[in-house]
Amino acid sequence: PHSPDLQNLKLVVSAGPTREYLDPVRFISNPSSGKMGYAVALEAQARGALVTLVSGPVNLPDPPGVAVIKVESAVQMHDAVLKAAADAQIVVMTAAVADYRAAEQKTEKEAKTAGEVSIQLVPNPDILAALGQQKSGRVLIGFAMETHAGVERAALKARRKNADFILLNYPTQQGTAFGGDDNQVTLVRPDGTSEAWPRLSKREVAARLLDEALKVRQSAR
Ligand code: C5P
Repeated sequence: PHSPDLQNLKLVVSAGPTREYLDPVRFISNPSSGKMGYAVALEAQARGALVTLVSGPVNLPDPPGVAVIKVESAVQMHDAVLKAAADAQIVVMTAAVADYRAAEQKTEKEAKTAGEVSIQLVPNPDILAALGQQKSGRVLIGFAMETHAGVERAALKARRKNADFILLNYPTQQGTAFGGDDNQVTLVRPDGTSEAWPRLSKREVAARLLDEALKVRQSAR
């Protein structure tokens, strides 16, 4: 049923949330399920790609035939993705990378006190932007979740991070995005042009995403 149109291509996909530990037992994270990234990994593998999946903590089985690298923090994900991407032709960042981590990670669990506490946060490295800066004929794809002005903000992100396109989704739709099996995304290019796709299963979104990645690759040659 699948055409092996990704044969001889190496694809790296990131998935899931990251965990930013405050101490050994507490962390900051988000509700990303990893389903979108795992769907990209499964679809790309079925179409003949050599797939590396860099995954944050999720409750999903390892996709068969895929090299899976498990990470927790954004810094770990950054290092794993950059290493795996060195000889890849396509990189898809579906991971919901935490924007910040604690400035200081305590080595022991802090006792509770009655008063207020504050946590100082420092920015995490932007993995997609780092890849965009060292870009060399690689197709780079990102995701973005926006609550408003989605297309404009996603186009700005694509330009700033040097991505070929971004798939934009909204956190508010029932059964889509975080945790759902379906997704309704809009493809947004750096030039601001966009294409709203219908609501599809995450596997179908993955298939279209890979079709578009191949188009970008062909038009660049
Ligand atoms: O800026 P924003 O987080 O909305 O951008 C989303 C895109 O950038 C996603 O593809 C996400 O995986 C990627 N990203 C990243 N490193 C970060 C933050 C986001 O690669 N630190």
